[in-house]
Amino acid sequence: MMDNRISTVSLRDLLNFDAKTVPLVVPSSFLLEFSAPELPVLAPHEQMALALLAKILSPRTILEFGTGQGFSSYLWAENTSDSAQIVTLDLDPAAQSDYTAKILRGDETVGRVYRESGHSEKVRQVLVCPGGSIPESLSNLKGNVDLIFVDGDHSYDGVAHDTELAFEFAHEDTVFLWHDFYRFPSYIAEGPGRRGVYPYLNELADRGSLKLHHIAGTYLVAGCKNWPGTPKGEVLVPGAHGDGEARQRILRLGDF
Ligand SMILES: C[S@@+](CC[C@H](N)C(=O)[O-])C[C@H]1O[C@@H](n2cnc3c(N)ncnc32)[C@H](O)[C@@H]1O
Repeated sequence: MMDNRISTVSLRDLLNFDAKTVPLVVPSSFLLEFSAPELPVLAPHEQMALALLAKILSPRTILEFGTGQGFSSYLWAENTSDSAQIVTLDLDPAAQSDYTAKILRGDETVGRVYRESGHSEKVRQVLVCPGGSIPESLSNLKGNVDLIFVDGDHSYDGVAHDTELAFEFAHEDTVFLWHDFYRFPSYIAEGPGRRGVYPYLNELADRGSLKLHHIAGTYLVAGCKNWPGTPKGEVLVPGAHGDGEARQRILRLGDF
């Protein structure tokens, strides 16, 4: 298993914002729909980190790979300005597999949670085929997206494909985020179809085109050409330490 080269930093150091208290909005459905022993698709600290990133960065346009039930789209919709536009991609129903069904937890379609937001008009749902290009209708976004969240197909090839596509939509200051950066041995199986966020992002960090940092207390990695702050951080191995309850929960979720 490759060594980790991506350092862990706090959001405070990454964004260099002064410690002003701002209200963050998170969806209550995390508490109402998940039982206590389960780990929701985004852990509580991750929900707050995404909400804070949206508040601080104030993106005009967000592109998201992986709508699922729509928790992250809800966070984007609620924590950005009224004029922000959010485009969220998921699979066309004909291309969905057991993985999407598991994520949807009984919902018939993707995006149910963000549609319950009072700001859902900011979110545009787009359905795509795996491995394909981005629909022509989104070509006006090329070079114009301020924040990109990659949380769709977590195979090595899937995350590589989505990230490479995402580069076409980015500009010099775009902030990239990836979810599910961890190195549980049973999760990062080698061979075809291996889960690839951890190895892919380490390779991307080596390329040097973006400065990548793991966000402390989360399984999120953030990338940007030039961060406003001067993050240093320490290189840890997310998901490889300890044997606590949280790790066991993530291992269970990591089964799919
Ligand atoms: C982990 S879930 C996303 C969770 C979502 N971000 C949230 O916070 O609720 C992953 C989703 O990605 C979708 N997906 C899988 N492959 C994809 C692809 N190639 N393009 C877009 N979405 C994909 C799956 O159908 C699934 O709904």
